[in-house]
Amino acid sequence: MAGVANPEIWPAYDYPVPLQPDDEARIAELLARMTLEEKIGQLVQADLCCVTPEDVRAYNLGSILVGGNSGPNGNDLSPAPDWLKAADDFYEASVDTTDGGVGVPIVWGTDAVHGHSNIIGATIFPHNIGLGAARDPALIEKIGEVTAKEIRVTGQEWTFAPTVAVPQDFRWGRAYEGYSSDPELVASYVGAMVRGLQGPPSNDNLLAGPYVIASTKHFLADGGTDNGVDQGDSSISEEELRDIHGLPYGPAIAEGVSTVMISFSSWQGKKMTGNKSLVTGVLKDRMDFGGFVVSDWNAHGQVAGCTNESCPQALTAGIDMYMAPDTWKPIYEDLLARARAGTLPMARIDDAVTQILRVKGRLGLFEAGKPSDRPYSGEYELLGAPEHREVARDAVRKSLVLLKNSGVLPLAPGGRLLVAGQGADDIARQSGGWTLTWQGTGVDNSHFPGATSIFGGLSQAVEAAGGSAELSPDGSFTTRPDAAVVVFGETPYAEFQGDRAALVLDPELTTPFETIEKLKAQGIPVVAVMITGRPLYVNPALNDADAFVVAWLPGSEGGGIADVLVGDRQGNPRYDFTGTLPAAWPLATLMSDGTLYDYGYGLSYADPVSQWAELPEVDASTLAGDSRLWFSAGSPAARWSLLVAGESTGDQTRITTVPAEALGGRARVTAENYLVQEGARRFAIDGGMASVQLRNFEPVNIDRETNADILLLVTMKVWDAPDNARIGAIGQDSRGFADFAMPETPDFVRYGISLKCLRSKGADVTTLTQPFVLQTQGAADFAIGEVRLGTDAEVTPPCD
Ligand code: BGC
Ligand code: BGC
Repeated sequence: MAGVANPEIWPAYDYPVPLQPDDEARIAELLARMTLEEKIGQLVQADLCCVTPEDVRAYNLGSILVGGNSGPNGNDLSPAPDWLKAADDFYEASVDTTDGGVGVPIVWGTDAVHGHSNIIGATIFPHNIGLGAARDPALIEKIGEVTAKEIRVTGQEWTFAPTVAVPQDFRWGRAYEGYSSDPELVASYVGAMVRGLQGPPSNDNLLAGPYVIASTKHFLADGGTDNGVDQGDSSISEEELRDIHGLPYGPAIAEGVSTVMISFSSWQGKKMTGNKSLVTGVLKDRMDFGGFVVSDWNAHGQVAGCTNESCPQALTAGIDMYMAPDTWKPIYEDLLARARAGTLPMARIDDAVTQILRVKGRLGLFEAGKPSDRPYSGEYELLGAPEHREVARDAVRKSLVLLKNSGVLPLAPGGRLLVAGQGADDIARQSGGWTLTWQGTGVDNSHFPGATSIFGGLSQAVEAAGGSAELSPDGSFTTRPDAAVVVFGETPYAEFQGDRAALVLDPELTTPFETIEKLKAQGIPVVAVMITGRPLYVNPALNDADAFVVAWLPGSEGGGIADVLVGDRQGNPRYDFTGTLPAAWPLATLMSDGTLYDYGYGLSYADPVSQWAELPEVDASTLAGDSRLWFSAGSPAARWSLLVAGESTGDQTRITTVPAEALGGRARVTAENYLVQEGARRFAIDGGMASVQLRNFEPVNIDRETNADILLLVTMKVWDAPDNARIGAIGQDSRGFADFAMPETPDFVRYGISLKCLRSKGADVTTLTQPFVLQTQGAADFAIGEVRLGTDAEVTPPCD
């Protein structure tokens, strides 16, 4: 039967933490004293965005999390002491028994996925794909230890890591969160990371040592969806599911991983979160997983027959804790009502609570006292401590993969070095998504105290040897350099925001190819350094550069790159390249076009200089297929059209060329410059009601984006403000509009309208035909430069 697993064909493991009679007796005793309300509370996890200590006190919630866009006091970028203070506040609320109850301490989860990566000043390690290149499990364990210690400084106890995805299609926006496309390599790391984070498997009080609990995610085949679509469906066979994606769970369980997070995705059409045969049959029963199972961010809402507010199916499938960030209250109430009505099996509720209490017991939460009283708490000097940064720098050195060297590397330290490329001095960019913010956007070097950019590392290295380094993003110079490093590649993204239709850079990121070409034409030796979460087609850069280094997403210690690139005064390398590809590199824009470099490829200084045979080049500019971009550079994206409409549906004009007239001459559309010549469309309306719309040929489904707090971004400039304006979305049988203040502005401004707002106003976000409608009343004159989905607004209007 499709989507139903046969547990007996899966390997059996032994969870290494035996149940101790004393602990079990205590749990049984607690359980016996808990009311139904308290039990249900344990099953629910709320996000910091949407929960207060008062709520935790009132509802006895089992857990809180801080999602990528959340932070204490509503501030994603809150300083470390605020995190510890919040941890104390939530803990104290959870153990308060003044109005009765047993007061089970709360556990706080965070995405410390490459270091304690939500915290300003923490050590940021390379993302997993770079660590995969290092082939060094001992290093992985050290990274786990450092990460755990830094988490403990700010009072959290649980990280949603490691991601043990085995990405099979690198068009997937989360591919960089996986170590490798090779299940064996991933499996060789998982145990080490779990051990580094949790310490050796045991029943003893993890919190007495420098540890936290880990979560292997996302069970199962998050990296195996068809075409690499995030949260999509994996249509593979059960054998592939087991042998590719299931493999890393063996070592995780053998190390006693405390929690497993279930994937948003589905297998053979059935959402994992509701798949009992896999969650209970395979993971819990067959694999003997002895911790608790947590679902992903409102993932229960995607299970057939469920909504974000109600999903008993998840619990019966084997989920122990619901990640219900902003929906915890309806989920709690729904579970409670069903339990009271007797339609939810009490045995399953007790079992889930027992699993959660067991993990809390092993953590030592019942004895640990408040977060600020525990070891390592408040030792802020541990965040980004020099010895921690050294581990990260070592990881950077080991993650670099050399694809080409015509002899320009190692760079001579004494000379004049030009460092070009927009990414050269940008720590946020070299850190990627899941860094301080969810998407890794909206932050700059000032948010990374103590960190080193790639340029920073290069300049330190050459200056120490008497040379000089000049930063020049566009590659121009006044004094001719001896050599140039051009840093280029991807900009940060997370989850589905990173999904692409082909293995190519977005067109605006390819200008450094021209920089490389220009420098080369002037006879200057060029080293290309690529920041990327995945192998991509970059043949123009490979052809033109004299040396090519893949740096992946190195994180805060950019100095590790100079360590390997810049030689000593004798012209010898100081460190060799030891990294090799954690996944095959494409020959062209799709993996099906063939492989340029196999898995495991990587040169070292011992290899002879590369004899270069020119690689084929193709026009990749239209292939990126960024489905978030609806209107830019003066035109709607493929499959979209731009309309101007009036009061009645008949009164509608599709704008293809400009100048154009609409509404019987009442509206005029002309070109306006924005970013590029004629990159915007300007609308002059004499009066009355008018609306500018973007229509898609097929209904657009932005449910996933709406759940994840994505914004509708509209970049506009206003010369003459209308009397009133509204922004909204129109669907097949629905519409939702919010008032929109449209003040006159001297420049283009990027407004971010919450998709949740449009949904709450009545738009059915699963079937939109005109997902963007700007409606004005009265005379108006404004221009629209871009309409897209994203997170980086300058102004976010309230939803009213
Ligand atoms: C949160 C992330 C979460 C995502 C879900 C965002 O709003 O900040 O933590 O992973 O939504 O897709
Ligand atoms: C992601 C998880 C993450 C969670 C909490 C989800 O959207 O898929 O990997 O742990 O959000 O931020």
